[in-house]
Amino acid sequence: MKSMVIAVLSLGLAAAAAADTGVAVVKGTAPDSKVTGTVTFQDTKNGLKVSAKLSGLEPGDHAFHIHEFGSCENAGMAAGSHYNPLGSKHGFLPKEGLHQAHAGDMGNIMVAADGTAVLEVVLPHITLTGGKYDVAGRALIVHEKKDDFSQPAGNAGGRVGCGLIVIMGK
Ligand code: CU
Ligand code: ZN
Repeated sequence: MKSMVIAVLSLGLAAAAAADTGVAVVKGTAPDSKVTGTVTFQDTKNGLKVSAKLSGLEPGDHAFHIHEFGSCENAGMAAGSHYNPLGSKHGFLPKEGLHQAHAGDMGNIMVAADGTAVLEVVLPHITLTGGKYDVAGRALIVHEKKDDFSQPAGNAGGRVGCGLIVIMGK
């Protein structure tokens, strides 16, 4: 009995250790853009941990979302709408949850006077891979303006930065 418990425990550990890491290399959507950065994605027991490091942006708040399609073409418009598997309204996922916000609603990233920004946010119920609401293969979008949380999509203007969310490995 005891050995079975240990076997189950070590299986659990092996599964946790094998979790994939994802990355989105963010580039500006305009030809002369200085926007650049890296966003990493890691499955945790509380949800998907998203860690962003960006530069070349206008100071202030910029909406920060996961959009449904994995394309940055056409100034980011090819990424489609906010990832919204449950047909929810627009909101702030970490506070409001999947039924009261789009799965891709990460709010805003605050850009400092020097154009750089860092953000860490955990998205409950969202996974990189292997879950019901996977984001691998979708797109990370940084908007021109701040997300004011109005409907239908936060009134955040154009898409100044975009990156495809790809699996980096174990
Ligand atoms: Cu967006
Ligand atoms: Zn949204």
